[in-house]
Amino acid sequence: MSDDRRERWRPPEAAAPRPGGIRGALGGSRLFEQPQYVEELQAFRAFVDVPGPLAVEVGFDDGARLLDLVRTFPGVRWLGLEVREARVLALAPQAPPNLHVWRADARTVFGLLMPPGRVSRVDVLFPTPWWDEGKRAKRLLLTPAFRDDVARALAPGGVVHVATDVGPYFEHVAALFAGWQAAPEPMTGAVRSRRERVCARDGLRIWRGTWTPG
Ligand SMILES: C[S@@+](CC[C@H](N)C(=O)[O-])C[C@H]1O[C@@H](n2cnc3c(N)ncnc32)[C@H](O)[C@@H]1O
Repeated sequence: MSDDRRERWRPPEAAAPRPGGIRGALGGSRLFEQPQYVEELQAFRAFVDVPGPLAVEVGFDDGARLLDLVRTFPGVRWLGLEVREARVLALAPQAPPNLHVWRADARTVFGLLMPPGRVSRVDVLFPTPWWDEGKRAKRLLLTPAFRDDVARALAPGGVVHVATDVGPYFEHVAALFAGWQAAPEPMTGAVRSRRERVCARDGLRIWRGTWTPG
């Protein structure tokens, strides 16, 4: 992808409205109210209801980084959210008991399903920038609504960590979290995410930020 395209990225003009739901969410944000999803919802609730620190990785892709974190920090419960079914199905059989992977839109999970004050850490590595403007307006993850939903879900001292190689997307994210406090980067393991590996290979700059509600 050309650097020019990255530099020309702009956030959507207006926040997507969400009367009665989350616009553009995978399967509709009321998906998990449907009877065929009852078991998935119960499995999610059973996982997050177990006491102890809960960390979330949004968009884990091949899951290599997440699996390494899960093994490196066995005292943490890890929830991996990914909209691509094949990625979830590939990782699920390898998941130890402290990992739950779910094919679910992070906007639905944080907006409607996550108990308040439950999460200690949210990792969003290389969120999809959505180059198509129409899709960006509907699907961009890091919006004021998502930030507020994450704030509600975070436990005291909880952090959100974001990395991207799209400079203007990072400017948008930094503005979004301007009212929060900068926080130390959360601990990580030895394995990098798929996109981190691509950036290292191609010499692409990565912007990172970690914030906690002020
Ligand atoms: C650009 S990729 C980055 C993948 C990985 N985090 C990395 O660093 O290589 C973005 C990932 O987020 C997933 N994704 C996009 N929107 C999502 C959402 N709303 N909820 C959960 N996952 C999402 C995509 O399917 C994709 O795997």
